[in-house]
Amino acid sequence: MKRVRSPAGLRAALAEGEGRLAFVPTMGNLHEGHLALVRRARELADRVAVSIFVNPLQFDRREDLEAYPRTLEVDAALLEREGVALLFAPDADLIYPEGMERHTRVEVPVVTEGLCGAARPGHFTGVATIVCKLFNLVQPDIAVFGKKDYQQLLVIRKMVSDLAMPVEIVGVETVREADGLAMSSRNGYLTAEERQRAPALYRTLQETVAALRAGRRDYRVLEEAGASRLEEAGMRPDYFEIRRAADLGRPSGDEQALVILAAAFLGKARLIDNLEVFL
Ligand code: PAJ
Repeated sequence: MKRVRSPAGLRAALAEGEGRLAFVPTMGNLHEGHLALVRRARELADRVAVSIFVNPLQFDRREDLEAYPRTLEVDAALLEREGVALLFAPDADLIYPEGMERHTRVEVPVVTEGLCGAARPGHFTGVATIVCKLFNLVQPDIAVFGKKDYQQLLVIRKMVSDLAMPVEIVGVETVREADGLAMSSRNGYLTAEERQRAPALYRTLQETVAALRAGRRDYRVLEEAGASRLEEAGMRPDYFEIRRAADLGRPSGDEQALVILAAAFLGKARLIDNLEVFL
């Protein structure tokens, strides 16, 4: 595996290889969720490039950015074992040489509104901007994203479609711990006691799926019940919403593909999860 830090180093390394290129952008502190994306990428292409960059533009609070776990050496060893051809781990001053304020931004409307977009202003503009820039640097044929960050996946799909970017976007199912908790770098913020309670998020989503499958269409009532369940489990719910799977619009009652999305604080961690449901 080649490791490069600068755009120039990346260009040189890319020029050496050949064949279809799949790309997996990450912020590092890799777990089985990230590795599932890498494995999917390997199946779909001749070579895989992974980026590790804790993108300051998508963090709304400095503490969160500074506390974000950085484990580059361990991550590199994991990627090496997965047969990754290229690891791009740039420093922030190479990505934002004139600072973030002076950098061009990519703003995706509508699908960024509400859910995580409401709680984290500017977050998805930060995500779209860095993913656009990484696509231009890496120039992949395919890019792989997790459904764990469902709204993010739709933001990327919309950006690629609107701006006619020649990249195929592939979504991969959420990888979970044995008790259902979606894997996340932020799970490390949970105390042992909070970790015990955390699977309530997934269980509540599953209960709501069951209610929808049983024919319930009183979305507001189901959303309120879901949020209450999270509170009972000791979490502070940020949102619990039933949306259309295709575009996150509010469902009218006759949709066949829905997604239930939730975010909740548990101690210091803000956990997110979602489940698709096809009726
Ligand atoms: P990060 O949180 O590191 O996630 C990188 C990729 O891994 C994303 O596509 C995310 O959806 C996926 N992922 C994380 N946990 C997962 C799980 N349990 N199962 C399946 N996939 C999972 O998302 C980002 O970084 C950043 O916003 C980024 C896209 C890199 C832009 O900075």
